[in-house]
Amino acid sequence: MQFRKGYWTIVILMLLAGRGVHALVNGMDSPAHKAACDKNGTVTAVRGESWLAHLNRPFSETSMGKTGHLGPGPEEKPTLGPAANWFLVSSQGATLHGADLYRLNCQGCHGESGQGAPPEINSVINPVRATSVALVMERMKTSGMEISHADAVKLAQQANAALLQRLRQGGKNMPPFPHLNDPEIRSLMVYLQQLAGVPGAGGQQVAVSESQVRIGEHIVKSTCHTCHSAAGADPDPKQLEDGAIPPLSVLTARKSQPEFIRKVTHGAPILMGAPAMLYRGRMPVFYYLSEQEAADVYLYLTLYPPSESNDTHTLIAVLQQGRPNGGGSPLQRPGSDSSASSGPLAGPEPDNSVSLRSFVLLSGIGAFVVLLLAGGLGFTMREFQRLAMKTKGHQVMVRNPNTEPGVTRPVGAIGASSRAMSLGIAKRQSH
Ligand code: HEC
Ligand code: HEC
Repeated sequence: MQFRKGYWTIVILMLLAGRGVHALVNGMDSPAHKAACDKNGTVTAVRGESWLAHLNRPFSETSMGKTGHLGPGPEEKPTLGPAANWFLVSSQGATLHGADLYRLNCQGCHGESGQGAPPEINSVINPVRATSVALVMERMKTSGMEISHADAVKLAQQANAALLQRLRQGGKNMPPFPHLNDPEIRSLMVYLQQLAGVPGAGGQQVAVSESQVRIGEHIVKSTCHTCHSAAGADPDPKQLEDGAIPPLSVLTARKSQPEFIRKVTHGAPILMGAPAMLYRGRMPVFYYLSEQEAADVYLYLTLYPPSESNDTHTLIAVLQQGRPNGGGSPLQRPGSDSSASSGPLAGPEPDNSVSLRSFVLLSGIGAFVVLLLAGGLGFTMREFQRLAMKTKGHQVMVRNPNTEPGVTRPVGAIGASSRAMSLGIAKRQSH
């Protein structure tokens, strides 16, 4: 009876311990956490001054980032946006297609159609059409020059390489996109070909699945960072009137999540001047971003605070790349310096979630082992007591089939009780 009780106590302890570890590890797997911690560990904070500041281009003299329309003025009643108590924190992320990647990364400057705003922002259409062998041959034919298929292939390949290089290194006035990984670029290229009407590109959309913060990262690094610098002082209403644009690092403190989502997706007036009054904002409305995507931006900015200086994340990445991250271009987007020389993509950065996870797992296992040892010790002590008590009374005997008939051996003969047991054998044999 006692043995059973001890056994069950241990089984229950083991189950409890196991459950504890399981719950802890599972907590790390909850949708919110998964969405927050990018699976591939490639999400990094946005850094450096805005693209406009980098180009030294006044806000009023550019079309970049301005494909949206202006938001409501102070006299207009607020357009519908998320309710004040509306809260969108966790989604499982989303499956994006090339069209979405274009929307999040390119539409802010090139517009929905890809035409851009010439002469400042060139159209994407012709450079993309130049990557198609069929279109290259057709164009040559109409201009009266016959070229061989092999030559057309060569030209198309060159155009393709130029386009890829543009995405990784940027152009004269176009920012680089080092945060785009290979599958994303493939997916985007297929969409660009569809947009440009390349024959044979239709239909085959390539999907990539993205975490919530990764979606936020796309939008911030490609779209918001055009006008908003990563870090800096929080402007007061007077400075806003004088043209200051609040840095990305203060946006989540200036705005609640619903206010933020409303400003981005529907527009909202802003307090400016001294005395401060409500004015129509100068920021375009990003009508083509969903409220969930604006929430993804808020989450990304919260979990990966924008900074001017090297944060640990970037430091580790730099150490891994084995070379200094000297202040080259003022636009220090994470990885932007690496993309140029170290091949298509910056190396994966350490994933905090993984180390946290293994820490929890290890301490869970540690606790479990200690518990097992304690339980085992208690169990052994009990068994000692039990055996000592039992030997005073009857003996549990079994017949050993390998020895002569009639010879029996005690079960679990240990220590102090063995003498009593052999006595028991002697007694039995004398019968
Ligand atoms: C911040 C604004 C901005 C964003 C965002 C942007 N571009 Fe551009 N893009 C420009 C400007 C400015 C030019 C023309 C000047 C230059 O070449 O730098 C340009 C030119 C181009 C061209 C034409 C090159 C040529 O030979 O005429 C292509 C193709 C292009 N961009 C593709 C893209 C793609 C794809 C994306 C999204 C991943 C993108 N751009 C995002 C600003 C932007
Ligand atoms: C074309 C330039 C431009 C781009 C691109 C841009 N913003 Fe803005 N943003 C501004 C300006 C200018 C202000 C100052 C308020 C105003 O005039 O609307 C502002 C203000 C804001 C505010 C409100 C701050 C406050 O306290 O009222 C938020 C939030 C914001 N931006 C978020 C974003 C996000 C998120 C993105 C990317 C999706 C983005 N912005 C892209 C120009 C831009």
